[in-house]
Amino acid sequence: MEFVTLSNGIKMPIIGYGVYQITKECCERCVLDALKAGYRSIDTAQSYFNEEEVGSAIAKSGIPREEIFLTTKVWIEHYGYEGCKASVLESMRKLQTEYIDLMLLHQPFGDYYGAWRALEELYEDGKLRAIGISNFYPDRMIDLASFSRIKPMINQIEVHPYNQQTEAKKWNEKYHLQVEAWAPFGEGREGLFENETLKAIGKKYGKTTAQVMLRWHIQRGIVVIPKSTHSDRMAENFNVFDFVLADEDMNAIAALDRSASVFFSHTDPNMVEWFVKMAEERKQQHDCSKEKKNW
Ligand SMILES: NC(=O)c1ccc[n+]([C@@H]2O[C@H](COP(=O)([O-])OP(=O)(O)OC[C@H]3O[C@@H](n4cnc5c(N)ncnc54)[C@H](OP(=O)(O)O)[C@@H]3O)[C@@H](O)[C@H]2O)c1
Repeated sequence: MEFVTLSNGIKMPIIGYGVYQITKECCERCVLDALKAGYRSIDTAQSYFNEEEVGSAIAKSGIPREEIFLTTKVWIEHYGYEGCKASVLESMRKLQTEYIDLMLLHQPFGDYYGAWRALEELYEDGKLRAIGISNFYPDRMIDLASFSRIKPMINQIEVHPYNQQTEAKKWNEKYHLQVEAWAPFGEGREGLFENETLKAIGKKYGKTTAQVMLRWHIQRGIVVIPKSTHSDRMAENFNVFDFVLADEDMNAIAALDRSASVFFSHTDPNMVEWFVKMAEERKQQHDCSKEKKNW
């Protein structure tokens, strides 16, 4: 296993297993399979609604807790100091753990300053080993990094061959944030797994396009968290430490950059409104279920 060292000295595996869009029914089995394949870093989030299943898989695996690097993320409706603090404790309960290795603020909207103060305190209390952000474009990252007491250690952003984030990477590095790629395959959108350049490079090394993409990220010093529900693909994605892409291949992949998201832009006002609406709806549902429980 290869590791990166975060700005606070904590070591994090350079490859982890992501559980976005894995249903509650599948999640425990998938995480157990991933651990069996050798992964020791798991990436979940409050908004994936599968923290409990991740927690039970880790407990059932028998692997000592300290050998696993566990990441989760605070969702917008829990932003603000009090809400964030309570939600982190709730995540710990669901994950059956006394501490979380990495806690991220999932989106750059809402009272993320209040939430960040809560993370700073929980970090100082030893409940969080590292704290960071996700989807903060350089402008918001610089703002938070500059006006907070404890600087974020990681920024988890969309990175793959069609959206290489070269500028964002430079800015994050300037502020000592480790870049972590979400959707390291771009979820296969726009034919990424079938890309001819990636296929040709794969042929040269006897590797699949998925393995070439992960290796390319790793050689850029970027942490990856590929997701698959298939155990053979989990093993395939983990098997990327026995070859090195030559400079000419790294350059050929660099030329694939379209510098645009294959999902959406976090600076698109329509998307910001969509996030606001979603957070309000979830808060209402949350408040309703709390009221019901009070009856
Ligand atoms: N912070 C954020 O806002 C954010 C957003 C998105 C994702 N994430 C994190 O990043 C993780 C990864 O991103 P992602 O799940 O969106 O996308 P991804 O890892 O880029 O791609 C997952 C897709 O690729 C397929 N796949 C996986 N390995 C493959 C292989 N070897 N060959 C062919 N197909 C393969 C999977 O299918 P099967 O499952 O059918 O194998 C799935 O459809 C997430 O799980 C989550 O933890 C974070």
